[in-house]
Amino acid sequence: MPKPIYILAIESSCDDTGASVLENDKVLSNIVATQTIHEQYGGVVPELASRNHQQNIIPVVDVALKKANINKADLSAIAYTQGPGLSGSLLVGASFAKGLSIGLNIPLIGVHHMQAHVLSHFIKLNDQDQVPKFPFLCLTVSGGHTQIVLLKNHFEHIIIGETLDDAAGEAFDKSAKMLGLPYPGGPLIDKYAQMGNPLAYSFSIPQIQNYDYSFSGLKTGILYFLQKEVAKDADFITKNLNDICASIQGTIVKILLLKLKKAIVDTKVKSIALAGGVSANSGLRTAFEHLAKSKNLEAYIPPFEFCTDNAAMIGISAYFKYLKGEFSEINENIFSR
Ligand code: KG4
Ligand code: ZN
Repeated sequence: MPKPIYILAIESSCDDTGASVLENDKVLSNIVATQTIHEQYGGVVPELASRNHQQNIIPVVDVALKKANINKADLSAIAYTQGPGLSGSLLVGASFAKGLSIGLNIPLIGVHHMQAHVLSHFIKLNDQDQVPKFPFLCLTVSGGHTQIVLLKNHFEHIIIGETLDDAAGEAFDKSAKMLGLPYPGGPLIDKYAQMGNPLAYSFSIPQIQNYDYSFSGLKTGILYFLQKEVAKDADFITKNLNDICASIQGTIVKILLLKLKKAIVDTKVKSIALAGGVSANSGLRTAFEHLAKSKNLEAYIPPFEFCTDNAAMIGISAYFKYLKGEFSEINENIFSR
């Protein structure tokens, strides 16, 4: 048996401070400190996010190592999110990782956040866990991105479609804001939608070329719809919250899957996968599974803890880079977008 590779991974691209320890492709610990301070501001405040990362990073790493029962001296490499994300937030994770890499004299591995979301499918909780077979399509939906990615192998990720404006997560969060719900509104829309009728209200579906997406028209449509209804009845939103949420969610899911269906036909893949924070959405997960079943495809959806931002996905990406000997230089910079 070859000696196992132990990787400590840090994720600090936005408002969650994450640390994870992996033994090869198996996750030993995955800790996330979620910052709640942003709720009251209706969105992530970059300066507050980086200050919070500074406070959280040492305790989060400490817990991750303890839970994994791994000593710093046993680590083979340290990985961190190099980008994209908020500069101040990325810098906290990058500086910490660089410091540890120098201090322990172990390789440093910078990871691309979006590639990591896609590679989250290869994280194993148990040795017998199934992972997708190449090539496959991954619908990556987060607060900052919406992409259809064709994966040929662990490193060849071809983006065949993406949003021209807002991301799917933003569409959820901005809709929630219009309904008076706190940030991040995606999970709340999901919660209320489960008690509502998705056919109660209809919103138009954008006509965009190829596999690309657009959500800005839907946002405007929802705004005008709400203004019109609230002018007639000031309590419209409170009275119909479940139906409004179900209809918005249903429309976003429909838009997302329309393009994925087109990509499945054209690429003739046998497997499809879902990744990113929005893949935690119950409506999307159900519709995605139905789609796979109807087309006789293998469907892969990560467990909840690997859907939203987490350090285990940075760890698994770093593991594949480690096997290839792809390490980062200490003077490499972070990239925000
Ligand atoms: O991947 P992620 O954790 O962070 C980014 O890299 O952006 O995604 C966060 C996004 C937010 O927009 C959040 O509202 C959305 O994922 N989200 C959801 C759900 N859980 C998280 N959207 C809809 N339904 C959910 N259950
Ligand atoms: Zn993310």
